[in-house]
Amino acid sequence: MISGSGSPLLKLDSVGKTYASGSVEVHAVHQVSLSVMPGELVALMGPSGCGKSTLLSVSGGLLRPDSGTVTVGGVSLYDLAGARFHEHRRRSLGFVFQDFNLMRTLTAVENVMLVDELDGMPRKRARQRALAALRSVGLDDVAERYPGELSGGQQQRVAIARALTGSPRLVLADEPTGALDSANTRSVLGLLGEIVAAGGACLVATHDPEVAAAAHRVVQMLDGVLTEGRAAAVGEARR
Ligand SMILES: Nc1ncnc2c1ncn2[C@@H]1O[C@H](COP(=O)(O)OP(=O)(O)OP(=O)(O)O)[C@@H](O)[C@H]1O
Ligand SMILES: [Mg+2]
Repeated sequence: MISGSGSPLLKLDSVGKTYASGSVEVHAVHQVSLSVMPGELVALMGPSGCGKSTLLSVSGGLLRPDSGTVTVGGVSLYDLAGARFHEHRRRSLGFVFQDFNLMRTLTAVENVMLVDELDGMPRKRARQRALAALRSVGLDDVAERYPGELSGGQQQRVAIARALTGSPRLVLADEPTGALDSANTRSVLGLLGEIVAAGGACLVATHDPEVAAAAHRVVQMLDGVLTEGRAAAVGEARR
């Protein structure tokens, strides 16, 4: 196992995010510091509403924090401006959304191709990579279907394929197995395992004990604050 080697692929320093909801302020994330190292699969757990999705969104460049710094691949993400910000985000990390976030008017394969196409890759090659990614989640037979024609678990796997094309070094996944049966959960854990085995890192928000058991480390969140983690016993890690 290569956990702990090199510098963190994700580093959060005293990150805070407060939502204004009418006249009420919700401190969704409060002073969170966390490092995820190459070779590490970290499970982020905690009750509904404790701030997991907010923390992942802030980590992935989808939601600017009110305070603190987010460093992805050694670069302070929110200090980048304009095109460089988007490019760094696109190239450094893959994001699996809790609600899948697929474009309804694009087929499965077109959804997966989108990131590569935005990055300027020729359409034919982007399509080949997308089909390979769909194959890795067992979905090549539904590549030409629209999200509305897929089951929840199939949509979730399209979202996972999209996040994993291009083999990003950092994968941020929000409940990636919430809609999956145990066979597909194991296959997704296998894919995340390949990312970390290749020196990448994954931070996965989850309620799923199978995911927690496969993680090298579990961090607990409660009311926007990270509490103690549990270091997974060496034999407990899936690989
Ligand atoms: N856009 C928003 N505006 C206002 N409050 C929000 C917004 N998004 C989330 N919240 C609040 O912030 C807190 C954290 O929400 P978040 O979605 O991060 O929790 P979570 O841990 O991911 O929950 P779950 O396990 O249900 O997905 C909750 O109290 C939630 O109601
Ligand atoms: Mg959530």
